[in-house]
Amino acid sequence: MGNKIAKEKVTKFNILPILKKRYSPRVFADTPLTEVELRTLFEAGRWAPSSYNRQPWRIIWGIRGSKTYDRIFDCLSDFNKSWAANAPVLWLNAYKKTTEEGEDNFHALHDLGLFMGNVTAQAQHLGIALHQMAGVNYKTALTEFGFPEDYHVATAVALGYYGGDLNKLPEDLREQENPENRSRLMQREFTFNGNYMNNNDKNSTEEVKKTDKEQIMKKINGE
Ligand SMILES: Cc1cc2nc3c(=O)[nH]c(=O)nc-3n(C[C@H](O)[C@H](O)[C@H](O)COP(=O)(O)O)c2cc1C
Repeated sequence: MGNKIAKEKVTKFNILPILKKRYSPRVFADTPLTEVELRTLFEAGRWAPSSYNRQPWRIIWGIRGSKTYDRIFDCLSDFNKSWAANAPVLWLNAYKKTTEEGEDNFHALHDLGLFMGNVTAQAQHLGIALHQMAGVNYKTALTEFGFPEDYHVATAVALGYYGGDLNKLPEDLREQENPENRSRLMQREFTFNGNYMNNNDKNSTEEVKKTDKEQIMKKINGE
């Protein structure tokens, strides 16, 4: 597989191409990301909705070659370190855990997710890929970057343009870059028109048919 691979899943319901084509690679093109591109992504996140408009998200970002990038990298789990240096940019996602009144803000993590949803859609529109990571040593990150006590470092993100060289990945991770390997729950497994686990929802997404898969592979291979 080379730089031209575009992963795409067939879905029964027609969704936006930017949602259909998105995936989380572990290799990225060598093309660097500029600060303007990054600021565009932050701006997309900035306009996400949040509970009481609290905007609890806080981002630490670094471009490869900088001290900040290396400091973020050092906070990643060993597994994520095995591939994340492929990314031209790394960032950490933190959020403020409390409200202005000092109460717990139970919706802060939800809001950070919405922030990342906006960022992801904007990035996909620009041809930029994200790989979000839970594998972060959050205690190290909190101290390393000087966060006060009422903050939590939730995730890290590796990002860059799609189209990396698979040879840069450890062998066991290459197979996971195969479009055939993406899978999802059926709608009936997580949507209930009534009680939880009431599985009478007939209008759920079907399994991707074999013929559809063949068509996707033909498209990917430019046949
Ligand atoms: C919050 C979050 C945490 C994740 N943590 C990791 C991680 O630590 N390491 C990793 O390689 N992938 C991580 N992933 C990537 C998921 O495994 C990936 O999104 C999922 O398998 C679906 O694949 P797709 O994004 O290509 O559709 C994470 C994704 C999210 C949203």
